[in-house]
Amino acid sequence: MLKFDYKNADAQIIGQENGLNISEEFSQYKARIAEIIADLNKRKDKPGQWLQWMNLGYSEETVWYVKEYASMVRNRFENILVLGIGGSALGGMAVTEALLKPYWNLLTPEQRDNFPRIFFLDNIDPDTINGLLDVLDLKKTLVNVITKSGSTAETMSQFMIVKSRLEAELGEDEYRKNVVATTDKETGVLRQIAEQEGYKTFVVPDDVGGRFSVFSAVGLLPFALVGIDIDEITNGIKDMDLALKNTDINENIAAQNALIQYLMDTKKGKNLSVMMPYSSRLKYVSDWYVQLWAESLGKDCDKFGNHVHVGPTPIRALGATDQHSQIQLYNEGPNNKIINFVRVEEFDTNLEIPRIFEYTGIGYLGGKTINDLINAEADSTRVALADYARPTVTITLPRIDGYHVGQLLYMLEVQTAIAGELYNINTFNQPGVEQAKNYTYALMGRAGYEDSARVLQAKMASV
Ligand code: PA5
Repeated sequence: MLKFDYKNADAQIIGQENGLNISEEFSQYKARIAEIIADLNKRKDKPGQWLQWMNLGYSEETVWYVKEYASMVRNRFENILVLGIGGSALGGMAVTEALLKPYWNLLTPEQRDNFPRIFFLDNIDPDTINGLLDVLDLKKTLVNVITKSGSTAETMSQFMIVKSRLEAELGEDEYRKNVVATTDKETGVLRQIAEQEGYKTFVVPDDVGGRFSVFSAVGLLPFALVGIDIDEITNGIKDMDLALKNTDINENIAAQNALIQYLMDTKKGKNLSVMMPYSSRLKYVSDWYVQLWAESLGKDCDKFGNHVHVGPTPIRALGATDQHSQIQLYNEGPNNKIINFVRVEEFDTNLEIPRIFEYTGIGYLGGKTINDLINAEADSTRVALADYARPTVTITLPRIDGYHVGQLLYMLEVQTAIAGELYNINTFNQPGVEQAKNYTYALMGRAGYEDSARVLQAKMASV
C-alpha cells in the first residue's frame, strides 16, 4: 500500500505559526470526517450524485469489453491517437507515462512487444496538430476520440480534421475501422455521429465527470491498447477503496491529506498546493492532479448558495528538476504553500554512477546510484523546507506499477471528494469552465448562442 507521512506539516516540526496540531485536529474533525466518508459511500450508487467514479474499480463488464476489443485489434495498428481534452486526456497521459517503458514511442516494435505507439492531442495548436498528422501514417493509426459531452469544440474540431484525412486515405468505408469513440451512452453529437457512421464505441458512464473518469473506458481502453495490465490497476483501486472506506481519520490517508490541505488553506493561509513527484514517470500525475484539484475545489458558491470564492491553487512541480527552478521561492518566498512530495521507494532500474573522476566537488558521487541521489534530494529538500518552516506531506509508492499508480490516483480522487465536503461546495460541477465553453461556441457561430455572441461582441469592443 501507499504510505503517507504528514509529520512535516505538524507544529512540533515547523512551529505553531505555520504548522498544525495534527493529532488535535484529527480528534476535533473525527466525527465530521467519519460522517463525510460514510455519506460518500452511501450516496455513491445514487443517480445524480456524480459519485459513480467510486465504483469504476469494480466494473468487470467494462474491463471485459475493453480487453476483448484490445485483443481484436492487437497487431493491426502501429499507432494509437487519442483525441480529448481536460479530463478526457489527462488521466490517460498520466498513467501511460507512468506505466509504459520510458520513451515508448521511440522504441522498436519488438521492444514494445508489438504494441502500438501512443500519442495524445489535447490541444488545438494548429502547428502541433499538423506536425503530428504529418509524421503519423494514418492508415496504421487507430483514432480514439474521447468526449463525454460529445461536442467539446477542441476535441470535435480535431476529430473533423483527422476524420477527413483518414477518409481521404482509406476511403469512406474502410476508414471507420480506424475510429473508436468514447462518449456518453445516449446523448451528444459524437454519439449520433458514431451511430450514423458505425464506429465502435465505449461509454463514459453516467455520473462520472471528466476529471474522475480515468478508470472508466476513457483511460482503460488506451491502456489496454498499449498492453498495460488493467487488472493490476483495478486491483490497486479496489484495495485502496477498501482502505479508504475506513471512517476513522487515523486510518484513512485520503481523509488525512484532505483535512491537512483544507486546514492549511483556511487556518494557515497556505492556499497553494504543490504536487511534486520525484520521478519523471509521474510528471503527468501532477498535471492530472492540478485539474482534479482546481476544477473540483475552485468554486464561487457553497452548497447554501453563498458566494465564498474558495479553492486552493494547485501547482505542478517535478523533483529533482524543479529544485533548480521553484525551490528557492518555496524556501524563501511567501510562506503560502503546502508541498505534496511523491516519493518512489524502488525504481525499476538501479543505475550506478561510475567512479571515473576524483575531483573533490563530484568524486563523492562515484560508486553511488542515481536512485540514492534522487531520494537523497527528496529527503534533503523536505528537511530544508522544514528548516524554513514550510509544510510538506509525503506520499510514498513502493514502486511504480499499475497497482500503486491505480492506488495513488484513486486516493487523490477520494481526497478531493472529502476536501470538497470540508469546503462545503459542489465538487463535481464546473460552471466556470462551462461559461468559457459557451463564449467559445458563441464566438465561433454555434446556432442557439446568438444572444451570447451579441453580448460578447459588445464586451470585447469595450475593452
Ligand atoms: O473534468 C471535466 O469535466 C472537464 O475537464 C472535461 O473533461 C473537459 O472539459 C472535456 O469535456 P468532454 O469530455 O465533454 O469533451
